[in-house]
Amino acid sequence: MLCSLVFFVLANLLGSCLCLSPNFVACQVQKPKGMSPLVGCPPETIFVSQDVNDKHARFHSVQDAVLSLPELSSATILIAEGEYNETINVTRKGPLTMLGQLPTSALDSINRPFANRSDVPLKQNLVKIWNNQFVHTGMDDATSAVLLVAPSFNASLIGAGPTGAPLQPLFGNTDFKAYNIDFENRAANFSISQALVTDISYANASFYGCSFASFQDTWYTGRNGSTYVVDSIIYGQTDYLFGFGTAWFQNVVLANRACGGGIVAWKGTNLTDAPGNRYGAYIADSSIIRSPDANATTVTAGKCFLGRPWNDLATTVYLRTFMDSTVQPVGWTPFDSARPVIMNTTFYAEYDSTGPGGNTSMRIPLEHILTKEQAKDFTIDKVFLEPPKWIDQTYLF
Ligand SMILES: *[C@@H]1O[C@H](CO)[C@@H](O)[C@H](O)[C@H]1NC(C)=O
Ligand SMILES: *[C@@H]1O[C@H](CO)[C@@H](O)[C@H](O)[C@H]1NC(C)=O
Ligand SMILES: *[C@@H]1O[C@H](CO)[C@@H](O)[C@H](O)[C@H]1NC(C)=O
Ligand SMILES: *[C@@H]1O[C@H](CO)[C@@H](O)[C@H](O)[C@H]1NC(C)=O
Ligand SMILES: *[C@@H]1O[C@H](CO)[C@@H](O)[C@H](O)[C@H]1NC(C)=O
Ligand SMILES: *[C@@H]1O[C@H](CO)[C@@H](O)[C@H](O)[C@H]1NC(C)=O
Ligand SMILES: *[C@@H]1O[C@H](CO)[C@@H](O)[C@H](O)[C@H]1NC(C)=O
Ligand SMILES: *[C@@H]1O[C@H](CO)[C@@H](O)[C@H](O)[C@H]1NC(C)=O
Ligand SMILES: *[C@@H]1O[C@H](CO)[C@@H](O)[C@H](O)[C@H]1NC(C)=O
Ligand SMILES: *[C@@H]1O[C@H](CO)[C@@H](O)[C@H](O)[C@H]1NC(C)=O
Ligand SMILES: *[C@@H]1O[C@H](CO)[C@@H](O)[C@H](O)[C@H]1NC(C)=O
Repeated sequence: MLCSLVFFVLANLLGSCLCLSPNFVACQVQKPKGMSPLVGCPPETIFVSQDVNDKHARFHSVQDAVLSLPELSSATILIAEGEYNETINVTRKGPLTMLGQLPTSALDSINRPFANRSDVPLKQNLVKIWNNQFVHTGMDDATSAVLLVAPSFNASLIGAGPTGAPLQPLFGNTDFKAYNIDFENRAANFSISQALVTDISYANASFYGCSFASFQDTWYTGRNGSTYVVDSIIYGQTDYLFGFGTAWFQNVVLANRACGGGIVAWKGTNLTDAPGNRYGAYIADSSIIRSPDANATTVTAGKCFLGRPWNDLATTVYLRTFMDSTVQPVGWTPFDSARPVIMNTTFYAEYDSTGPGGNTSMRIPLEHILTKEQAKDFTIDKVFLEPPKWIDQTYLF
């Protein structure tokens, strides 16, 4: 009783935080000894802990908890502090929220944005989910991802070329959310080959206070996928934001561990299966920096391109983004020697870039340096063709 009271006060204090979900913070904070970790959680929240003696834990692996869920209905999974060596594969349609535990011991440090480019080292979460898969010849990129949100195996496939793997008449999760979880592909500490962290295809998903770490192809928003990432950190080297759907990155830190390809490699479509789509990568109010964990011998100054076109209909837009000196002054590069020209069907744009890499005077002529008026066409509601119902607008950052 006394404990609950103390906790209630604590939760109220946390409710005024800068950078947390007011809906979930009470559930997420680690509880004093003797109190259920589920105090403050939505009804029927499933608790996952690696501690086999924890009587509150229904599962000891996150994927086991996912597999226990019915196809429909909403579900919440609370994950205890720990490093989970597993691949998460969400095929179900029903809304699913994954919560990482937050520390009580460091109220001060969580009362700040998770993604702050000035933190050295950058912040980390208590919960880490990781695998060490990477792509060998003949494998599809999808099979290396740490987190898959896609309705079927074929729908998760990425394929190659301008349209990739065949279009699937399916849609998977309508509302996947993750809070305060670090997703890491630990295949190597260098770019070994494609080693994905996410593959979100034919699904709608959003992420809050998370991080995603790899070298090549860290983040993937697949076909007919819509994703939103806020107050999060993404680490990579080559094409580490890639996709064939619509992705909005808000207040993220893009941490260059080295430079290769482009930061973004996107595809668009003019096929009638996606009428009026605005497939593209949109990065707003964010920072591009040399990753504090980059190998000291790795040269990045002036070497990282903002993007390269995976197909000629690629769209990539940076809004109000700080760019450090890792950014290549010309900004953008052709895909490869087989496609040595960036076609004018590709849409590359920036608005109000700042920092030493944000000087746009040397950018390629094809790029659009947007006016304030033109930039108004790039908002969350406009690129998703509606105000997305699957984004948590209450998250504070
Ligand atoms: C992680 O999981 C992989 C695949 O199951 C396994 O091969 C590897 O040994 C595990 N590593 C650790 C450190 O647990
Ligand atoms: C970002 O981090 C720096 C250095 O750790 C700190 O001084 C600053 O207050 C932080 N910004 C915010 C908004 O918390
Ligand atoms: C994900 O789970 C589905 C359903 O069990 C399975 O068909 C698919 O192969 C899995 N995906 C991967 C990449 O393992
Ligand atoms: C997955 O794709 C393969 C190759 O295109 C095809 O042979 C197979 O029937 C598909 N499976 C399903 C369940 O659609
Ligand atoms: C990567 O570096 C970390 C920290 O130095 C080390 O613990 C880990 O074993 C390395 N991973 C690989 C795959 O070499
Ligand atoms: C669709 O895009 C492709 C690749 O840029 C182009 O060759 C084709 O003409 C376009 N089709 C239409 C109908 O605009
Ligand atoms: C994309 O998903 C929507 C549901 O969000 C569906 O209505 C539409 O048919 C899908 N389009 C394609 C090309 O799969
Ligand atoms: C840094 O890179 C050098 C040169 O490629 C390599 O020899 C060294 O092992 C790397 N260090 C770490 C910590 O990965
Ligand atoms: C793109 O280039 C083609 C051929 O070079 C030209 O006809 C067309 O007007 C250009 N389109 C735009 C939008 O600049
Ligand atoms: C931007 O770069 C150009 C060309 O190098 C230089 O002349 C100009 O002074 C720079 N602008 C700023 C604000 O640094
Ligand atoms: C997925 O999100 C898009 C964009 O907000 C929306 O148009 C679509 O209806 C959503 N799909 C489903 C199945 O909820």
